[in-house]
Amino acid sequence: MALVTTTEMFKKAYDGGYAIGAFNVNNMEIVQGITEAAGELNSPLILQVSAGARKYANHTYLVKLVEAALIENDIPIALHLDHGADFDICKSCIDGGFTSVMIDGSHHPFEENIEVTKRVVEYAHSKGVVVEGELGQLAGVEDDVNVSAEDAKYTHPDEVEEFVDRTGVDSLAIAIGTSHGAFKFKPGQKPMLRFDILEEITKRLPNFPIVLHGASSVSQEYVKIIQENGGNLADAIGIPEDMLRQAARSAVCKINIDSDLRLAMTAGVREVLWNNPAAFDPREYLKVGRANVKAVVAHKIKEVLGSDGKA
Ligand code: G3H
Ligand code: 13P
Ligand code: ZN
Repeated sequence: MALVTTTEMFKKAYDGGYAIGAFNVNNMEIVQGITEAAGELNSPLILQVSAGARKYANHTYLVKLVEAALIENDIPIALHLDHGADFDICKSCIDGGFTSVMIDGSHHPFEENIEVTKRVVEYAHSKGVVVEGELGQLAGVEDDVNVSAEDAKYTHPDEVEEFVDRTGVDSLAIAIGTSHGAFKFKPGQKPMLRFDILEEITKRLPNFPIVLHGASSVSQEYVKIIQENGGNLADAIGIPEDMLRQAARSAVCKINIDSDLRLAMTAGVREVLWNNPAAFDPREYLKVGRANVKAVVAHKIKEVLGSDGKA
């Protein structure tokens, strides 16, 4: 199967009350773990690549890894640029075979966000590629940008219609209380997402696919393994799964997950190396990390996203 855009996936997800997992990929083992899980569960998939991933693994390697995954797994896969910072990186990914890009103008004032997003949409659509825009700011870390919780801003429902109309974006990422990374809430703090804002946005944008970033749940099982095997990740807290299930049933059609894969991979690698100080064959520890990634993705697809059997 060839790469697809997210258009058909989102329409079916919206109508079916489930969401598509958008998982970040950085190397072969992560691509394999994710796609094997989705392949076995017959789930559509978005594989997303950040600027940091491109810098680490190289654009061509990542595209070719995803192409290999398409040969090995008969499921629809969209290849997406995560958090494109400007027109140039979006153009480079569009020209380089991606089927979807995010232009993240959320750090800009409204008019500038519209301007850069519209420019990307015009170029992307002329090449058959779809575009995700963002309104509102999440707390946490994305590449070089570190937004503190105090500076994070919920999306204003008043702005969404104008933004979508004037830019022509195909989907919209919103800020309702999720954040990037493994430390989303403080210990003792009650996790809270602003479903009221999501509802308001859905009223203003009927049938329009919404995207949730920063949606890792930070499995305490993997945090514990990391802690017990020489790591230090005390107080890592994520989004409760029942909140993500609620989001997946709503207008949220794409749920972004990266930190949970990092934790799964790290737990596997740490466990092997901590218990076998003489181990030095990368396959020995990477295969355990890869198996953990696969288990996490299978769990998400079945128990959180509800996308199993929807390919
Ligand atoms: O939103 C951020 C993603 O987790 C990607 O992270 O920029 O470190 O690759 P990265
Ligand atoms: P997490 O850090 O919660 O996995 O979020 C990832 C993300 O939003 C990628 O764009
Ligand atoms: Zn993100």
